[in-house]
Amino acid sequence: MCGIVAYVGHHDAFPILIKGLQRLEYRGYDSAGVAMLSNGEINLYKKKGKVSDLLEFTKDKDVTGNIGIGHTRWATHGPPNDVNAHPHFSENKKLAIIHNGIIENYASLKAELIKRGHHFESETDTEVLIHLIEDIQEKTGKDLFEAVRIALGEVIGAYAIVILSKDDPHTLIAAKKSSPMVIGIGEDDFYIASDATPIIEYTKNVVYLEDEEIARIDLKDGLKLKTIKNEKIEPYIQELELQLEAIEKGGYDHFMLKEIYEQPRSVQDCMRGRLNIRKGTVALGGIKDYENKILNANRIIIVACGTSWHAGLVGEYLFEDLARIPVEVEYASEFRYRNPIINENDVVIAISQSGETADTIAALELAKSKGATILGVCNVVGSTISRITDAGVYTHAGPEIGVASTKAFTAQVTVLCLMALRLGHLKGVINESDFHRLLIELSSVPEKIENVLENAEYIKEVSAKYKDVSNFLYLGRGYNFPVALEGALKLKEISYIHAEGYPAAEMKHGPIALIDEDMPVIVIATKKGNYEKVVSNIQEVKARNGKVIAIVTKGDETVKKMADYVIEIPEIVEPWSPLLTVIPLQLVSYYIAVMRGCNVDQPRNLAKSVTVE
Ligand code: G6P
Repeated sequence: MCGIVAYVGHHDAFPILIKGLQRLEYRGYDSAGVAMLSNGEINLYKKKGKVSDLLEFTKDKDVTGNIGIGHTRWATHGPPNDVNAHPHFSENKKLAIIHNGIIENYASLKAELIKRGHHFESETDTEVLIHLIEDIQEKTGKDLFEAVRIALGEVIGAYAIVILSKDDPHTLIAAKKSSPMVIGIGEDDFYIASDATPIIEYTKNVVYLEDEEIARIDLKDGLKLKTIKNEKIEPYIQELELQLEAIEKGGYDHFMLKEIYEQPRSVQDCMRGRLNIRKGTVALGGIKDYENKILNANRIIIVACGTSWHAGLVGEYLFEDLARIPVEVEYASEFRYRNPIINENDVVIAISQSGETADTIAALELAKSKGATILGVCNVVGSTISRITDAGVYTHAGPEIGVASTKAFTAQVTVLCLMALRLGHLKGVINESDFHRLLIELSSVPEKIENVLENAEYIKEVSAKYKDVSNFLYLGRGYNFPVALEGALKLKEISYIHAEGYPAAEMKHGPIALIDEDMPVIVIATKKGNYEKVVSNIQEVKARNGKVIAIVTKGDETVKKMADYVIEIPEIVEPWSPLLTVIPLQLVSYYIAVMRGCNVDQPRNLAKSVTVE
């Protein structure tokens, strides 16, 4: 939620900020703004809408300066408009701030500051923070760094902030708590951003700021870190592994399409070094020391949000079926507030692409406080969840930019497949011959995803038939029930068509009332997995004149005769089938959204990294 970027050095700041904001736009695109310091003046420009709107707005403006800050917003306090856009000025306009997060006690701070003569232009919590900092500076006579440190001791909430001062053309002050921030160290300049994507083309040396750390980034003195409690910290410089090509569109019309097509490779990357056919082994180094703990756990509790929660549901089927370990899957946002019963014999696994989702982090912290073992399945290396968990497994899908998650989902499911396979084998639930068969089948998934993608033109034709409908129903059973939920979510997110996912048999307890000739129903009807029962569900839909698009196993003739359209996937053992059945559903939602003229990569109201609850 919200992207921040800042630069100080000898180059023009503006193009670096704009490019950085475009890379961070997946984090929010309600408004964008920049502030540069040039000849002793802060030039601040901000605009409702996208970074492209800001660019248009600044066309004939003074955008010079070698130091600056930039922001792309996902609105929390105050509607998206020009005034609420960041950066925000302090009272005397000598300081400007960008902020990602929420200052929870902003209302009481604001009331106090108003009494002290401050005036506010916006409805944001951020403007309150910069006024508070200036107020402390004036009251105490301390320098900006100290004033920021004292102010942050007074605020409750989450923040990643960068402050630009009119009085100091060489220095930026940055700080973070519960919102991510990375500082890039160039040869003679510095870059600050919410993630590494705006930095990668300039430097590979980075410092990830920890919670409650404040940085003074000075062109002459370099990077100095302290905690809010005033302890000095030595910056730990790491080398980025991210490649520039990974965050560019590479010839595709949209990031989402690129990411859908990357799945043969991302699933392969996820299995690399873990699944070894020759040796007949599955090894997950990240959780090796915790395998006994998981095997002896009372139960596994999976916490996640959005698409990651759907991956968690597939995990429930996998762990219970293949390893016979009881599993509960919880929305992180519900789990954290419902006083759950957890103890030290529970293993809580958080699934998160970004590793920064606020509710998932809070759920983990709660579980940890009750003594549970906490594990993570994350995509972003070095993310908060990957750091606070006892251990975990990275999904290695590479950066996912499209707001609608695709390759992150299949990589999460792949990790869960590997875990279930390993644990089931260790526990003796899966015998040797089944283990080898499952291993070989899993290793064939990338090639089989490739086969599904070869069918994209046909999937596009089918999608075209239904691009104008208002409702969609998705049905699946067993392992493919969560895939039905995921298919419906994808369509809702990017095409704004109302869609619902249902366990196929539940249809007759309600949704069947909605079925008529205008209601397309996507049914996952692959072989095995209650196939005959799903076939009956298809007949129930057809009997009511519904339109059926069925996802079937290659060569299926039975469903072909009943359905309006069939989309074939290669044969695969049932536990791994979600890795294939989800692919056509991703493509259907993509094509329909494009045909409806929707902004596929940046759907309205959504953001990729939800760092507020
Ligand atoms: C947002 C994104 C979803 C994502 C969810 C959870 O809603 O738009 O694509 O599934 O957050 O994010 P996480 O990073 O924790 O997987």
